[in-house]
Amino acid sequence: MEADWDGIADWYADLVRGGSAMHQFSRDILLNALPDRMLGLDVLDVGCGEGIVSRALAATGARVVGIDPTRTLIAHAEAAERAHPVGVAYRVDDGTTLRTVADGSTDGVTAALSLNNIVDLDAAMESCRRVLRPNGFLTFTVPHPCFEAPGTETISTSSGMRRVAGDYFAEGLWRSAHPHSVRRAGNYHRTVSTYLTAVLDHGFALRSCSEPAPSDTVRAEVPHRLGLPPFLLVSATLA
Ligand SMILES: C[S@@+](CC[C@H](N)C(=O)[O-])C[C@H]1O[C@@H](n2cnc3c(N)ncnc32)[C@H](O)[C@@H]1O
Repeated sequence: MEADWDGIADWYADLVRGGSAMHQFSRDILLNALPDRMLGLDVLDVGCGEGIVSRALAATGARVVGIDPTRTLIAHAEAAERAHPVGVAYRVDDGTTLRTVADGSTDGVTAALSLNNIVDLDAAMESCRRVLRPNGFLTFTVPHPCFEAPGTETISTSSGMRRVAGDYFAEGLWRSAHPHSVRRAGNYHRTVSTYLTAVLDHGFALRSCSEPAPSDTVRAEVPHRLGLPPFLLVSATLA
């Protein structure tokens, strides 16, 4: 049977909470791209998972709501909030529609590694635009599309493990066959230009687009990331 997010939720929560360098790096680069002053801002964390980014947002002084359609992950996030309260409110909701979120009700939207799990990127962008206040920010990471396309492989060469790019133009759903891959639950591959065009088409002004080099801990955890950016990081504001 094909995996889905509910099916891998416990495994994913354990992975993140076990100190995954990739997830800590994704969280840290996203946090670094946010406005300097977060105190008192309302921030919506779309596809919050077990809450790694939502908790970090709360530590900046923001008022944070985390939404995710995967009930088991929301249950993990809520359990962490009960055990160590930081003031994050979690809700089951879908990033495509954000039906629990009122129009113009938030100062910022973050989406860490979640837009690549959403079937309809245009609908998600439109929902982000709808819930933001004027000049609100949208900051997101996705697995770097150039090195996560369908058919991408890691091979052993005389100079170490190397990533071989797959079918970059093959946009759409693909699943990893690897039993320990997050991409077992499916991944919607899109090109870099598709992401950036969606941002611009939905009324955002692009503020930055970057490809942070992997940290030492990421390189140690996943040596084939040597010399490659694991994530694409995009920041925009509502024009
Ligand atoms: C790789 S995890 C990232 C979770 C968290 N942001 C983190 O950094 O650990 C991808 C997340 O996207 C969520 N997701 C899947 N479909 C979604 C949708 N339609 N709307 C919002 N999130 C979705 C999954 O449930 C999962 O929590």
